[in-house]
Amino acid sequence: MHAFPAERTAIITGAASRRGIGRAAAHRLARDGWSVGMLDIDGPAVKDLAEELTRTYGVQAVGAGVDVGDADAVRPAVDDLAGALPPVVALANIAGVSSPTPYLELDDAEWERVLRVNLHGVHHVTQAVVPAMIRAGVGRVVCVSSVSAQRGGGTYSRTPYSVSKAGVIGLARALARELGRHGITANAIAPGPIDTDIMGGKLSDERKAELVAELVVDRVGTPDDIAAAISFLVGQESGYITGQTLNVDGGLYMH
Ligand SMILES: NC(=O)c1ccc[n+]([C@@H]2O[C@H](COP(=O)([O-])OP(=O)(O)OC[C@H]3O[C@@H](n4cnc5c(N)ncnc54)[C@H](O)[C@@H]3O)[C@@H](O)[C@H]2O)c1
Repeated sequence: MHAFPAERTAIITGAASRRGIGRAAAHRLARDGWSVGMLDIDGPAVKDLAEELTRTYGVQAVGAGVDVGDADAVRPAVDDLAGALPPVVALANIAGVSSPTPYLELDDAEWERVLRVNLHGVHHVTQAVVPAMIRAGVGRVVCVSSVSAQRGGGTYSRTPYSVSKAGVIGLARALARELGRHGITANAIAPGPIDTDIMGGKLSDERKAELVAELVVDRVGTPDDIAAAISFLVGQESGYITGQTLNVDGGLYMH
C-alpha cells in the first residue's frame, strides 16, 4: 500500500456555494485532517471559507478565485496552492454548472459553456494537480459526475450536462489506467438528486416529492451524503478502488 504523508492536502473545486456539495466536502475533509486548497470562480467566498476551516478544524486552508474552464489561469493557481500547502494527495473535482435547455432549442454557446466547465474544467485542474501527486508518491482523484450521465438526464439538466458528466466518467477511467503506476487512483461519483441550488434554485417540497417518487431511499440526498463518499474515496484505505463510478443516488440507477 502506498502510505499517505502525515501532513497532506486535498484540492477541491467548486467549494464556494453556500448550500453546495463542494462546501460540504471541504468541511468534511478538513474535519478528517486534510489541509485544503480550494478553487472556485467565487474567489472571496472560498477565501472566507478557508479562514473558517482553519478556525474550525485547525488545518491549513487556502482559497483562490479561478474559472476552471480557463486552462491558463488554472495552472498558476494550482501551483500557488501546492506551493503554500503540504503535499497534495487528493483532488475533488466538484465545480459544475447545470443546463435545462431542451435539445432542439440548444445553441452552440450553451453547449460550449457547459462542456467548458463540467468536462474541460475537470481535465484542466486534474492535469495541473497530478504532477504534485506524483511528487507526493500517492494520489486520489475523485470527479463528481451525475446520475444524469447514466440516465440521460431526468432530474433537471439535459443534453450538454449529460454529455459532460458522461465524459467525466470516461476521463476518470482513463486516468485510472494511466496513473495507477504512480500510486494514483481515479474514480467518479454519480450523485442522484441532492438538495442544493443547482437545479434552478432551492427545491420546493413539491419538487422534492416528485424526485423522491423515483428513488428507493425515501428522501432527496444531502451534500453531506456526497461529502462522505468523497471522504471514503480519497482515504488511504481506498487504494485498491480505481476506475469506478460510485452511485450515491438513493437507488435511482441500479446497474
Ligand atoms: N445537486 C445535485 O443534485 C447534483 C447531482 C449530480 C451531480 N451534481 C454535481 O455536483 C457538483 C456540485 O454541484 P452543487 O449541487 O453543489 O451545485 P452548486 O451550484 O451549489 O455548486 C457549484 C459550484 O461550482 C462553482 N463553479 C461554477 N462554475 C465554475 C467555474 N467555471 N470555475 C470554478 N468554479 C465554478 C460555483 O461557484 C459553485 O461553488 C456539480 O458538478 C454538479 O453537476 C449535483
